Amino acid sequence: MSEQPIGVFDSGVGGTSIWKEIHKLLPLENNIYIADSANAPYGHKSTEQIIELCKKNTEFLLKKGCKLVVVACNTATTNAIKELRETYAVPFIGIEPAIKPAALQSKHKAVGILATKGTLSSELFQKTSSLYTNGQQVIEQVGEGLVELIEEGKVDSEETKILLKKYLQPMIEANIDYLVLGCSHYPYLMPLLIDILPSHVKIIDSGEAVARQTKTILEKHNLLNNQNTNSKNEFYTNGNIGILKSLLNNPFEVNFLAF
Ligand code: SIN
Repeated sequence: MSEQPIGVFDSGVGGTSIWKEIHKLLPLENNIYIADSANAPYGHKSTEQIIELCKKNTEFLLKKGCKLVVVACNTATTNAIKELRETYAVPFIGIEPAIKPAALQSKHKAVGILATKGTLSSELFQKTSSLYTNGQQVIEQVGEGLVELIEEGKVDSEETKILLKKYLQPMIEANIDYLVLGCSHYPYLMPLLIDILPSHVKIIDSGEAVARQTKTILEKHNLLNNQNTNSKNEFYTNGNIGILKSLLNNPFEVNFLAF
């Protein structure tokens, strides 16, 4: 049992979609979230730059006493989690596109995946994809510009809708029945996605799976906080505090992060 907080970081505000699932499954845990919005998107950066940013975020969380770190960013996970696990003693949970369940359940044998360039071109993603999508049509699409729009708070703007329509059209033409969201920012686009895609297309993201894995690892290390204290959720951003607050739907404490 440990009352130390869980640390969660992302290249920006999108990872709050993962924090929400963790908070729902583990409401007694204390959490500290970092939105590294000043450096978003990570998807355009080199692996070396991503590793450096992830180490800076991790060290901030470790100084705050975090017992486990959730890398709530697909691009950061695919590029940096190995290095983080080799460098620091705490357990790390990563997030990967849910390509396996989509490929296993697709009746049309056609799956769409929307992710950043950094995720789609990573070795980890390519390995997972070829392992589970044998004989299936996989339509990969880089969501160029989407993270930036979400970071600007334009989750349901006309501009975002036009871009999404363009990205989803080839998937609709290929008759996909599953769309995998391979970026923790994209669950915030759910209303637009539902509006654009045919109703039979199932949309899956990895938030719940990450929360379940966080619980499993905390249990394994005997770190679960199962005492009924008032859980504390602290948020830090080096970007726009108002945009982060608007996505939390609750009056949580949001602090400015000076890095
Ligand atoms: C990015 O920073 O490029 C997007 C975050 C993600 O991949 O989840």
